[in-house]
Amino acid sequence: MSIVIAVDGTAASGKGTLAKKLAAHFGFAHLDSGALYRLTALAVIEANGDPKAEADALRGAQTLDFNRAGDPKIRTDIVGQAASYVAAIPAVRAALLDFQRSFLAQPPGGSPGAVMDGRDIGTVIAPDATAKLYIDARPEIRARRRWQELKTMGIRREEGDLLRELNARDAADKSRPVSPLVQAPDAGLLDTSDLGIDAAFAAALDLVSPKIESALKDRQRG
Ligand code: DC
Repeated sequence: MSIVIAVDGTAASGKGTLAKKLAAHFGFAHLDSGALYRLTALAVIEANGDPKAEADALRGAQTLDFNRAGDPKIRTDIVGQAASYVAAIPAVRAALLDFQRSFLAQPPGGSPGAVMDGRDIGTVIAPDATAKLYIDARPEIRARRRWQELKTMGIRREEGDLLRELNARDAADKSRPVSPLVQAPDAGLLDTSDLGIDAAFAAALDLVSPKIESALKDRQRG
């Protein structure tokens, strides 16, 4: 088994940034599992399907093109909303399970570990992860960050609208019957509301380092 860091949390909490920085720090592979749901949604939309319809959504999950993970189209609001619909369908989650588990079992590039961020990584995908984090921040702070992020992409949105959308997305992710967003009992909680990126990363490292360093030593001993 490879070494696994599971990073779950709310939308725009900073979990993606922290997951990437943790992966770079330890030399681990990184997977943003949200991109899989977004790519599924994109496939459904491009096939003129309905993201709430199980058959359409499942076909999307089976035909998604992972090479498009960097496509800015998957970051749009329309795709994000459709992603939360397909993510609530059990057949879609089941179809994406193998890809995620294989990534963790054999991280690409032969790296000794992987960092995966999402909503159900520490609870469903990798309940035995070496270390787990649950990232959150106050909704107003997350809406402001999303506003900033969109602004740098040249997209102007009302902050109040973004806050409403974030709250709706979180409520849907937390209340769906299958794989809801919930903090795993053994996940370290990190609230990034009042932390800049460097301070948040230092706090994340403090939480995971003891477990990861010890797992790396165990591996060296063979
Ligand atoms: O993190 P994100 O905004 O890219 O996620 C897009 C959608 O996918 C979001 O509504 C939650 C869902 N998702 C999920 O249900 N499980 C995951 N492991 C990752 C994302």
